[in-house]
Amino acid sequence: MTGKTPAKSSGKTTRTLGVAVLGTGRIGGSYIDVVNKIKGAEVVVVAEPREEQVAPLKKKHPGIEFVADYKEALAMPEVDFIIGTLPHWLHKKAAIDAAKAGKHIYIEKPMAVTLAECDEMLAAAKKAGVKLMTAHTQRYYPAVAKAKAVIDSGDLGNLVMVYDYWHKPYQPETRPKWMLDRKLGGGMGQMDGTHQLDRTLWIAGNDVYSVSAKVGSITHPELPCDDTGMLFLRFKSGIAATLARFAWDKGATEYGADYFLTKGMVRMRIAYGRGQGQATGVWIGDTPQGTWKEIPCDNNDNSLVDEVQAFVDSLRRGDADTPVPQMHGRNVMEILEASETSQETGREVIIKK
Ligand SMILES: NC(=O)c1ccc[n+]([C@@H]2O[C@H](COP(=O)([O-])OP(=O)(O)OC[C@H]3O[C@@H](n4cnc5c(N)ncnc54)[C@H](O)[C@@H]3O)[C@@H](O)[C@H]2O)c1
Repeated sequence: MTGKTPAKSSGKTTRTLGVAVLGTGRIGGSYIDVVNKIKGAEVVVVAEPREEQVAPLKKKHPGIEFVADYKEALAMPEVDFIIGTLPHWLHKKAAIDAAKAGKHIYIEKPMAVTLAECDEMLAAAKKAGVKLMTAHTQRYYPAVAKAKAVIDSGDLGNLVMVYDYWHKPYQPETRPKWMLDRKLGGGMGQMDGTHQLDRTLWIAGNDVYSVSAKVGSITHPELPCDDTGMLFLRFKSGIAATLARFAWDKGATEYGADYFLTKGMVRMRIAYGRGQGQATGVWIGDTPQGTWKEIPCDNNDNSLVDEVQAFVDSLRRGDADTPVPQMHGRNVMEILEASETSQETGREVIIKK
């Protein structure tokens, strides 16, 4: 059972932590099943204003309380942390409200709509003494983790260049309206560009020196959000990265990255959606003949379970930081925002730090 005392467990605890899931849209409902699979936490309440969305969930999970207003969930003493699966424009408000209520925060990516919002959220969490982690899942995908392990082993020398891409069907008619308006956190940069930045910063380092970008609306110019992006990042280490994303009406799907090292190459792919000709895996190229060699990789995707378990374990241990470091969501947003500034100004943007 969860504790009945006010939460804010900013120290070691063996207690089962109480979870409030905020939002049950396209991804939210699945978090109930995710928490049911992990150790050390249980869902006590779900907040979702759309009755039609929660009706089947209520039937499936009779032991869980359902409320329409997330403030009710935040007022519950048995809630230790929230899982925020909300429209991006609501991330800042929900996270700050949760911090004020003394609840730790696990917020779906991206951390917020702007860098300034990220800073407000981090300040609120710090003031309240709660943890704030942005759920950047990439490091929990076996193929991404394996690619990083191969690169970090040093067997292929030093990483010098990255080419990361995500080309996928756009399907705007299937998306909630907010996903098609940049001001509300819509567009492929917010949705998918943040995944690409997450894995690139995780693997290549968080020392981006400058960003140049072409960001645009090519397949659906009538929509007020981007569907394409080509970013060029220079790192202080000397590494260079190109991140390309293309949401198509007619096209083909490709999801992955190529990593270029001084003694070889690493290729990482994840099969995405229904497109033919895709495979999930990691390959290396380290011979003069130039043939790819597949590296064994466990491709069971339990990424959300692994990510929430890691978050819960870190809270129960009373770790100083979260498994995806608290600043990481902000760092991702800083580069995404710089890419938009580069598009507006036509110039390379220097990252000040
Ligand atoms: N990691 C991944 O691979 C992945 C995949 C999909 C979505 N996401 C992320 O998950 C989040 C949610 O995306 P989605 O596709 O589920 O969006 P969605 O619009 O389908 O769902 C959001 C839900 O929040 C609800 N909501 C709105 N206001 C609320 C409030 N005040 N209180 C409680 N609930 C409220 C809406 O009714 C809706 O059901 C986003 O951050 C998105 O980027 C991540």
